[in-house]
Amino acid sequence: MKTQELITTAKAMMAGSKGLLAMDESTATCNKRFAEAGIPQTIEYRRAYREMIVTTPNLGNVLSGAILFDETIYQGTNDGVLFIDILKKAGIVPGIKVDEGTIDLAGFPGEKITKGLDGLPERLAKYYELGARFAKWRAVITIGENIPSRGCIEANTHLLARYAAMCQEAGIVPIVEPEVLMDGSHTLQRCFDVTRNTLHELFDQLYAQNVDLNGLILKPNMVVPGLDCPMQASIDEVAEATVTCLLQTVPAAVPGVAFLSGGQSPQLATAHLNAMHVKYKGKLPWALTFSFARAIQQPAMDLWKGKDENIAAAQKLLYQRASLDDAARRGEYKPEME
Ligand code: G3H
Repeated sequence: MKTQELITTAKAMMAGSKGLLAMDESTATCNKRFAEAGIPQTIEYRRAYREMIVTTPNLGNVLSGAILFDETIYQGTNDGVLFIDILKKAGIVPGIKVDEGTIDLAGFPGEKITKGLDGLPERLAKYYELGARFAKWRAVITIGENIPSRGCIEANTHLLARYAAMCQEAGIVPIVEPEVLMDGSHTLQRCFDVTRNTLHELFDQLYAQNVDLNGLILKPNMVVPGLDCPMQASIDEVAEATVTCLLQTVPAAVPGVAFLSGGQSPQLATAHLNAMHVKYKGKLPWALTFSFARAIQQPAMDLWKGKDENIAAAQKLLYQRASLDDAARRGEYKPEME
């Protein structure tokens, strides 16, 4: 195993107060977001959109890594420069989503399992050659009546651990993402319990599969009440529940934790990250940063609308969002900065 390389990559991904940008929407998800924003759903618009993102001036000041999708990793600018080369030049580590989405989990109604392990070592070798140095696999845990089941948590975390072992073998840092969804009317406490169980099982599985914890990044959800829960939580309550949950489950050997935004508004996701840093500055064993997709991209996508004349303004918005998250990682974000 290329242990030193993995550690060096993970360190670069957690550098300074920067964070990661997830721009790895599958074709279906990207098209869905485009449809909502009134953007034509074609391969050329997806390429142009990603060009708008990666050519944002000074992006390397606030981002340490960017997660690409298979379609995107082969694409480049109109002038023929590969996106992956633009990222590298900006000092942004390129990563790649390698899971192939979710399907129904047989035997467990209402629950999902992630696919994509077949042929993964070959795909990882190809992505490494192209320049990717980290990968992402997202598992989905749904909260509902009598779910998540033990079977669902075990199956999903086992696959995350097998994926992580394959990544490390290929010299690629695995981001392990067990996302407990925000959908539903469950309370903050219920999200805490489910996230805690999931992370506990995940680290058991990672241990059982000989995954080196020094060479992986965890991408969890924040601990929040369900979107339809009548009792929403304050920013400080979310920060405290989230960090308490992580402290109870994530070993100190893990170099970094990078949150997904999960459907929170950009402002709220930033405020939550900031509150964690304000409250726990200097007291955490791992780096705590962001790996947002919607919470960084959405305002820029809505403004871009697929039009060349909006590129500069959309890039400004994208940069602003990422730099507010960068400030949050220092505990220096204030709502007035919006
Ligand atoms: O897998 C999910 C993405 O990487 C993060 O997306 O920040 O919109 O939840 P999100």
